[in-house]
Amino acid sequence: MVPRVLVVAQLPIEWLAPLHTAGMDVHLAPDLARDHDALCAAAADAEAIVSPLSVLIDAKVLSAGARGRLRVVANIAVGYDNIDVDAARRHHVAVCNTPGVLDSATSDVAMLLILCACRGATAAQTSLRQGEWRGWELTGFLGKDLAGARLGLVGFGGIGHAVAARAAAFGMQVRHHTHRPTGHPGYVPDLDNLLSDSEVVSIHVPLSPETFGLFNAERIGRMPRGSVLVNSARGGIVDEDALVDALVSGHLAGAGLDVFDGEPKINPRLLSAPRLTLLPHIGSATWATRQAMTQLACRGVVEALADRIPANLVTTG
Ligand code: GLV
Repeated sequence: MVPRVLVVAQLPIEWLAPLHTAGMDVHLAPDLARDHDALCAAAADAEAIVSPLSVLIDAKVLSAGARGRLRVVANIAVGYDNIDVDAARRHHVAVCNTPGVLDSATSDVAMLLILCACRGATAAQTSLRQGEWRGWELTGFLGKDLAGARLGLVGFGGIGHAVAARAAAFGMQVRHHTHRPTGHPGYVPDLDNLLSDSEVVSIHVPLSPETFGLFNAERIGRMPRGSVLVNSARGGIVDEDALVDALVSGHLAGAGLDVFDGEPKINPRLLSAPRLTLLPHIGSATWATRQAMTQLACRGVVEALADRIPANLVTTG
């Protein structure tokens, strides 16, 4: 029987070329993203699901799928906190993701947030749009230089590396922290030491029980007064109320977020916080990158259904 692949996203059909080339029965079902019960029912009737990070693949979807013919879920994202990976293991469903292909686009957005936060670009633009700008002033809209500033990267995977390269080109002094030594220059074993000695901090760790709320009031408090925090990883890593408090008190000079806890719902305090740039999770949002992500996810499905080990496997089924 031809394997059926459920694609829970609206996308250009040519992005699914690896599935079509492999002769799969591709079923486009973007509406299932908003109907969890219908997704569970449809999961039982497919060998594979291809879906983006905004679709919750929890134990209910996985157990319903495994009662039917589901063998693999491919997430169109590198982070896979939307998938219950333990349940996938229990139900013998393989999980794939899309590492590597989004490093460049996402690190560009991390730099965009760093630039906006250091140069106060969002507040400056708002002032101009509201007709408040009175003209060039020697002391108007003064920000922070990137050149020479100490940047602390929390997490040093593909995206962290790509941010390091970009930041170095801007003349920043780049250091990084991960749990295990990386063997790369600039490794700082202790997170708190990195934070207390960074003028700019950029977050590049996955969301997990260990990283949820990692940037709470205490950790933000360890960053020097006048420093900047940006997050293009996952919203839950930053305590958003603590971030707003630090902006309001002036402890942080600026911040930038591309991701939100519980997105697309936005903590209303973020909307009125000063010196904060907000983007609607566009880290990987370029045509070429989203196409590459989708194709990589599809290749994972084709490999897994052919009983080969996909290069982008998170967990075997
Ligand atoms: C984007 O946020 C991703 O995890 O791919």
